[in-house]
Amino acid sequence: MSETQRARLIGMTGSLRAGSYSNAVLETLAEKFAAVADFTIWDLAPVPPYNQDFEGDKRPPPVKALLAAIDAADGVVLCAPEFNHSIPGVLRNALDWASRPAFTSVMAYKPVAIMATSRGPLGGARCLEHMKVALDSMLARVVLARECIITACADKVRDGRLVDETSLGFACGVVEELLREIRLRAGASRAAAG
Ligand SMILES: Cc1cc2nc3c(=O)[nH]c(=O)nc-3n(C[C@H](O)[C@H](O)[C@H](O)COP(=O)(O)O)c2cc1C
Repeated sequence: MSETQRARLIGMTGSLRAGSYSNAVLETLAEKFAAVADFTIWDLAPVPPYNQDFEGDKRPPPVKALLAAIDAADGVVLCAPEFNHSIPGVLRNALDWASRPAFTSVMAYKPVAIMATSRGPLGGARCLEHMKVALDSMLARVVLARECIITACADKVRDGRLVDETSLGFACGVVEELLREIRLRAGASRAAAG
């Protein structure tokens, strides 16, 4: 990506729920950054449960499509609801597919922005930590940013958009750090090419 090019971002939540607050956060971010990024929110519903018998060319078509989209993206944005003090299974499953082949997958060295939501007053932090651990294991590069945990998210989303200015500021801050990392990498690639 050059300085004048738009960043290609892929967003995932792991919530399949109509009216998902996490998807609302990503929709809001896609609009906020529309001037500088093509932000695709990926539907994980068609992605089947991970099965190691179906790797490489045997991957199911929805998995191939997901992996191709991650590969083509400059960065990934994950906004996950905390489920049972961890990552929702739907997102975890997608990351398991995307993490193969181990250490050389489409996730290896990919810049990733992470944030978490919770309907409760205290949730989200454990999900965020577990995302970091899982992403580390696949050599993804979680961008350093002020942590974004959107608690009591039902009070902060209206009409499918994140309307709480404080939470939106944190969420935008994480994406800005992701874009900064993407621009730095593009600059380094140009410098290396001479
Ligand atoms: C199976 C399940 C487990 C949950 N576990 C937690 C939890 O551990 N901590 C928490 O804060 N919220 C938990 N919740 C509440 C979700 O964070 C909340 O329903 C959230 O709004 C779901 O995200 P969504 O709006 O994007 O679908 C859980 C919800 C479900 C359905």
